[in-house]
Amino acid sequence: MHIHIISVIPELMESPLSHSILKRAKEKGLLSVTLHHLRKWAVNEYGQIDDYQYGGGAGMVMMCEPLEKAILELQQENNFDEIIYLTPDGKTLNQSIANSLSLKNNLLLICGHYKGIDQRIRDHYVTMELSIGDYVLSGGETAAIVLVDAIGRLIPGVLNDETSALTDSFQDNLLAPPVYTRPADYNGWKVPDVLLSGDLKKIEEWRYEEALKRTQERRPDLLDSI
Ligand code: 6GU
Repeated sequence: MHIHIISVIPELMESPLSHSILKRAKEKGLLSVTLHHLRKWAVNEYGQIDDYQYGGGAGMVMMCEPLEKAILELQQENNFDEIIYLTPDGKTLNQSIANSLSLKNNLLLICGHYKGIDQRIRDHYVTMELSIGDYVLSGGETAAIVLVDAIGRLIPGVLNDETSALTDSFQDNLLAPPVYTRPADYNGWKVPDVLLSGDLKKIEEWRYEEALKRTQERRPDLLDSI
């Protein structure tokens, strides 16, 4: 999978892409992430990419021209399956969206800043608009990293143990059950006996019951959609 990201602060995303699972995905050749500085397509020598909004009001708007030039140039070399604009008024990202995006080959992400991007770019180029939750971030970069992480770990071969993504929270609309590691008794706090029993069927049943209980307590809304 190839992901291209257009941003005015690409540096913000370098570190998260250089560690842990995303780093491994890149090293294995399963994922490439290319950061593009929007200022490369600025309208003048001052690097201008934003301007005051029509109708007045506080905050700058990212201009059409740099964005269109960036998109057209990147489209010369790439056949994007989706052009995704990260914005708080987009559809809220969930595991099901991450699953379907993990099957794509080429994605272009656009990070907004200030008051966002000119509506005409959304109307004429953007094919999908995503938010990562009902709160406001300073820019789309942190949201883009969340999206790349959620998608990247689902690409087959990225995780060592292929089953580990399957048992994540949300993968079956259930939260994950509690987990324990050694020692079996820490300060008198005991690991549930069933996990030490070696009875795999019983362990599976216990995990399912705990996942169900946890979901009922914390996220009953998830059970409505099963
Ligand atoms: Cl995608 N962008 C911004 N700026 N804020 C957000 C968001 C995105 N998702 C939630 N809040």
